[in-house]
Amino acid sequence: MYNVAIDGPAGAGKSTIAKKIAKQLGFIYVDTGAMYRAMALACIRNNVDKDDEEAVVAVCSQINVTIAYESDMQIVMLNGENVNGYIRTEEVGNTASAISVYKDVRLKLLELQRNLAKENNVIMDGRDIGTYVLPDAFVKIYLTASSRTRAERRSLELKEKGIEVNIEEVEKDIIDRDYRDMHREIAPLSQAEDAVLVDSSNMGIDEVVEHIIKIIEDRK
Ligand code: DC
Repeated sequence: MYNVAIDGPAGAGKSTIAKKIAKQLGFIYVDTGAMYRAMALACIRNNVDKDDEEAVVAVCSQINVTIAYESDMQIVMLNGENVNGYIRTEEVGNTASAISVYKDVRLKLLELQRNLAKENNVIMDGRDIGTYVLPDAFVKIYLTASSRTRAERRSLELKEKGIEVNIEEVEKDIIDRDYRDMHREIAPLSQAEDAVLVDSSNMGIDEVVEHIIKIIEDRK
């Protein structure tokens, strides 16, 4: 199987880019962040304190997270319910970052992620795909951009949804999330030794897509 790993910090454009590459190359796009978000949603719905490891693990061990595909779109199912419409909030993203530090939460999703890659050509995005989930991936990309650029993109996205935000606060949130994701004990976000660094701070979406497709094609 051809597996492509795309890791990087929040807001670097991983999912937008990975979706486009998947479409062009006929790969399946796997968004692992969405799986952590589904677990976070379950914790929020159960009023569990994200800092209480035992309670978080208890909830996560009882739920079932799976994914399905509808017209090339990944649907995350939480106990059989399509939760795509509930997982894109800042609250869910921050909770996902907080609970993803726990070993049992990560182990629960590891098998699902590895099985998908075993059976399909996937382009999988996350934080630990190249370093931990798929250490033998065919191509590994570490996609990043400055925190300011990422905050500007995020603010624009929220503005388009009619949500006015303070860019300084969005940037602070991003920096806090980066710090937590990079400094946790298990499978922290880092660039794999054999990953190609792509800094998209001064690149447009299509430019990044083309650049990464070229890296993949050159490797074949
Ligand atoms: O990519 P995202 O914003 O949807 O991810 C939400 C959080 O989930 C992220 O801040 C950390 C966690 N995550 C992780 O620990 N490992 C992954 N492979 C993907 C996401």
